[in-house]
Amino acid sequence: MFDPAAQRPVDQAADVRITSGRIVEVGRGLVAPRIVDVKDMWIVPGLIDLHVHLREPGQEYKEDIETGTRAAAAGGFTTVCCMANTKPVNDQRAVTELIVRRAREVGLVRVRPIGAITQGLEGKALADIAEMKDAGIVAISDDGRPLMSSGLMRRALEYAKTFDLPLVQHAEDLDLAEGGAMNEGAVATRIGIKGQPACAESAMVARDLEIVEWTGARYHIAHVSTARTVALVRDAKRRGLPVTCEVTPHHLALTDEACSHYDTNTKMMPPLRTQADIDALLEGLADGTIDAIATDHAPHSPVEKDVEFECATPGLLGLETALPIILDFVRMGTLDDKRAIAALTGGPARTFGLPGGNLAVGAVADICVIDPERPMMLTADGIASKSKNTPFLGQQLAGRAVLTLLEGRAVYDLDGRFR
Ligand code: DOR
Repeated sequence: MFDPAAQRPVDQAADVRITSGRIVEVGRGLVAPRIVDVKDMWIVPGLIDLHVHLREPGQEYKEDIETGTRAAAAGGFTTVCCMANTKPVNDQRAVTELIVRRAREVGLVRVRPIGAITQGLEGKALADIAEMKDAGIVAISDDGRPLMSSGLMRRALEYAKTFDLPLVQHAEDLDLAEGGAMNEGAVATRIGIKGQPACAESAMVARDLEIVEWTGARYHIAHVSTARTVALVRDAKRRGLPVTCEVTPHHLALTDEACSHYDTNTKMMPPLRTQADIDALLEGLADGTIDAIATDHAPHSPVEKDVEFECATPGLLGLETALPIILDFVRMGTLDDKRAIAALTGGPARTFGLPGGNLAVGAVADICVIDPERPMMLTADGIASKSKNTPFLGQQLAGRAVLTLLEGRAVYDLDGRFR
């Protein structure tokens, strides 16, 4: 078992005893009325994803809370934070309440909504943040839409600070991006697709950091994709600014070369970048500049994806492929196993101030059991998500969650150990 949140991280063969949904004992040779054998597997805290799109309400043809949380459980996640770009937008109490209620009814994983920063994600007037906080939001974001106005960013940060909520920015300067559908560079030129420069992200981050320093509010950067952004965050953290950030598995695993075949599942915002960016992202993950691995699980249907690359809606699935992709880096030796698990558990918990992310005695038994070598052929039929938009389809992956426990109850059980 591995508990990254423990004072002296526990990394040893151990039994975990669970009673009434809580971890009551950790040690060797424990006795219990019922024993579930997970020998040779990793017992880690339930994974926590700071960034998913569950599409309910309003776009249930792509995903809904039931299918999205089923995909989360299958991926080893026990907590997911869902973005506000639903229809209607989660910019008011009624929508937040609906999401919380639906997720509770389904009961598969903990769903923590992220409220919009601005009404309708329009970047004009602030949303009902106080009301949404009351109803359960854990952060605010206009994700999918960057907050372009500096003045509004200042006010939003000040407001967020009042409620001690992190503000999550989709950092993309739309003036610099000019609607580019992929990364600006040699590959875009070769395949004839309009690109957007890496500085569209980092320029926005640089501006925001000035405002963060001014306001002292918590600022989190979604799906960091460029080397320059990593450098800016590293410097900001050194200066003590309350800044955090996340990286997605796909921005670590794929470069813009992946767009060469015009597969619209490789189109996302921010776009896939270069190997030099990936190297910097891995370094940022290793040294703690990057706090969390988040999937940006973004389901889309063939209506949005079976079109020309430039017309396609950006985004790809992430919940069921996150672990195998990240474990690949561990197997290659480019990412430390403990750091990888910390960035999927304790790191995200700390970033948004969520409970969980540890295996302490007394903690709620949200647990993920990983078979680090288990082969996984990714097929459309095998995906729990309602949508199938992933460039990894048909690939043989390795390493996956085999058992996910929510409060001691099996919400995913690949081999039927709990039956
Ligand atoms: O590629 C993306 N898709 N990036 C985003 O920021 C939004 C997301 C979506 O909602 O589909």
